Amino acid sequence: MILPATDEAILQATRQLQAGRLVGMPTETVYGLAANAWDAAAVAQIFAAKSRPATNPLIVHVAGIDRLGDAIGWPPGRLIAQQIDRLADLWPGPLSLVCPRGERLADNVTAGLPTVAVRIPDHPVALRLLAACPFPLAAPSANRSCYISPTRPEHVSDAAELQSYVACVLDGGAATHGVESTIVLLGERPRLLRPGSITVQTIAQRLQVDPSDLQPCTAANDHPQASSPSRPATPLLAPGMMLVHYAPLTPLVLLSDPTAVLPLTGRVGRIAFSRLPKAASDRYTIVETISENGDLVEVAHHLFAALRRLDAAGLDLIHCDTCQPEGLGQAIMDRLQRAAAPVAARRQPRF
Ligand code: TXA
Ligand code: MG
Repeated sequence: MILPATDEAILQATRQLQAGRLVGMPTETVYGLAANAWDAAAVAQIFAAKSRPATNPLIVHVAGIDRLGDAIGWPPGRLIAQQIDRLADLWPGPLSLVCPRGERLADNVTAGLPTVAVRIPDHPVALRLLAACPFPLAAPSANRSCYISPTRPEHVSDAAELQSYVACVLDGGAATHGVESTIVLLGERPRLLRPGSITVQTIAQRLQVDPSDLQPCTAANDHPQASSPSRPATPLLAPGMMLVHYAPLTPLVLLSDPTAVLPLTGRVGRIAFSRLPKAASDRYTIVETISENGDLVEVAHHLFAALRRLDAAGLDLIHCDTCQPEGLGQAIMDRLQRAAAPVAARRQPRF
């Protein structure tokens, strides 16, 4: 099912998308599960494959600025046009902008919202596929709803619940960034809806606002409109940003002090952000050292794959290092806090 991204494979994937099927698409952040964003029946397949609530809208991908009008209301109003202009040099890149939606989009893409999240991914295979398709591609991360995002093609092809829906997965290698795109709501009051590797400082500087005015929504500083993880009392600004997300099935504990010697019972795995002393490492059943020296770019790149490996290793518990929630560290800690949310608060995984 994984296809090397030859011209022939891109053509084949384009035909499948045209016929309303789903394609595993590599991006620089994580792998996406792509469908024709103008075709409601195709988009419905995404929600079915992922067991994703219909209230959680999808990100729409386009090949370039000249094709933004395939997804967003065109021409955009003066303020949105100015804000896009100020951020446009970050594209192609890991940035999704929430703008008023275009009319051609299928209604289920935006979960009925008047807005759409749009991005131009910085991955040569995604850009070739998007350029070949005469429509934009709706693509959430290619994982079962609430599970860890995929960063390698086999994470998509091995996912049993996706298999009957996915026509093929284009091989784009390991995703470089490893955390999902930064999401910014544009308009009178721009807001950071999801931290990513493009930092809040970068966005604030381009939009000429104070970083604190962007009010980051993290698990610690929960979304202002999300009153509970599963049943929001009011419509959500970023409906997918529930506290519980990206979670392994194995309980995960975050270590605020990586040198602390905690009592260990049963089979415990450890994700280390730098090389552990041998005495510490010997206490664990498995150690995944995802950076030798705490390099956060490496940590982000390897984190989801390491979580998946440990989750498949039959452990009782996973311990994971932490970092300062600043810069790229903000995105890493956002994902980890969601992954470590108490098991009792989790939605039941649906297979
Ligand atoms: O890096 C990424 O963004 C990846 C790759 C595949 O592009 N995609 C991704 O999609 O992470 P997904 O579906 O896993 O996350 C999309 C999130 C939603 O959960 C929601 O929070 C937000 O984007 N979103 C989408 N449309 C929105 C809208 N109209 N208003 C507010 N938030 C929106
Ligand atoms: Mg996702």
